[in-house]
Amino acid sequence: LNPFASVSGSDSEVRVASAGGGYPVLVESSGLRRLPELLLRYAPGHRYAVVSDDNVGPLYGRPAMDACRRAGLAADLFEFPAGERHKTRETWSALTDRMLEAGLGRDCTVVAVGGGVTGDLAGFVAATFMRGVPVVQVPTTLVAMVDASIGGKTGVDTRAGKNLVGAFHAPRLVLADPEALGTLPERERAQGLVEAMKHGAIYDALYLEELVRETVPLLAGEPGASRAAVLRSVQIKAHVVGEDELEGGFRQVLNFGHTYGHALETESSYEMGHGQAVAWGMILEARLGERMGITHAGTAERLERALAQVGFGSPRIPPGGRARIVDLLLADKKARAGVVRFVLLRRVGEVARGEGWSHAAPANLVREVVDQVPAPG
Ligand SMILES: NC(=O)c1ccc[n+]([C@@H]2O[C@H](COP(=O)([O-])OP(=O)(O)OC[C@H]3O[C@@H](n4cnc5c(N)ncnc54)[C@H](O)[C@@H]3O)[C@@H](O)[C@H]2O)c1
Ligand SMILES: [Zn+2]
Repeated sequence: LNPFASVSGSDSEVRVASAGGGYPVLVESSGLRRLPELLLRYAPGHRYAVVSDDNVGPLYGRPAMDACRRAGLAADLFEFPAGERHKTRETWSALTDRMLEAGLGRDCTVVAVGGGVTGDLAGFVAATFMRGVPVVQVPTTLVAMVDASIGGKTGVDTRAGKNLVGAFHAPRLVLADPEALGTLPERERAQGLVEAMKHGAIYDALYLEELVRETVPLLAGEPGASRAAVLRSVQIKAHVVGEDELEGGFRQVLNFGHTYGHALETESSYEMGHGQAVAWGMILEARLGERMGITHAGTAERLERALAQVGFGSPRIPPGGRARIVDLLLADKKARAGVVRFVLLRRVGEVARGEGWSHAAPANLVREVVDQVPAPG
């Protein structure tokens, strides 16, 4: 019953079902070396636009472009400044203008080489350039490998909020090379490890245990442990988005930990990393579920022990922050008449079916869970 047993050997291809016919996710050590051959096979284009941020460009974007050129493919690199604050329409217009100036047309393929910011932005460029050209996702962060590169969601942030302008645009291929994680800062690997633990929490309790056992090598970016975890997470995310590509229902289960998580993130003015906010969000949502009699007793404690391995400490909210968090949750556009909906676990490894996949939580319990979080100091 070892969850990693199925991911050993050469079994490194996961198929994602999609309206456009589906696409493969390849999890392959040294897979980047095969990029030109894989582009020709899965996304043959007249020209290739490799898009990277300016951290990843020198590390992987330029080598990818050079490898393509050596293989006789016409490829150009388009870099943009790294960071979430550049995931904007301004960067989208700069990239599309430069692609137009370079004479790229309908027959080009976009190759997104980078983290989730690059994948979302380059994916949105591909979704809109000439009304849509193919995109290949080459994720280089753990967050992008286990989460952002799969499922076809693309877009940019606006002043009104994150990811508010975008499109669904399924990739032709996702190529995850765990060796790329070696150059990633440890705190970035920690963000991705939380999303992987979320996959365990909602779908596979043994996988969560394995991640807890392997936390040290995973935080260090050790290729063997990383490959196994990326593959299992990809299988789980691919299964979920394959069932519900356009987020009508089942895909919501991926939001576990994200309702409280987003409120914590916003309250901290994004000082708190997304992974840390979601780690605490999962613990709070498990407590809420236990309080509502839906989640088995002891689940929150088990998640707390697992997530403590990642090293974020236990959640602490400054006294004034509690009211703001509750206000944020109740004011959310998805909250109706003081009722907030949450994805809740039945137990570790299983989501509780409610009305669809979420449950209405009464405002007093939503507040109570936040009030129980200790203040700092
Ligand atoms: N589309 C989706 O379904 C989905 C899902 C989850 C997250 N996201 C999005 O993903 C983004 C977060 O992604 P992220 O955490 O990958 O952030 P990111 O793309 O900003 O990458 C984090 C940092 O690591 C650097 N970097 C990337 N790969 C590297 C490598 N191999 N070596 C050294 N440095 C490297 C980047 O330059 C950046 O500074 C958010 O914008 C979020 O909205 C999208
Ligand atoms: Zn997330």
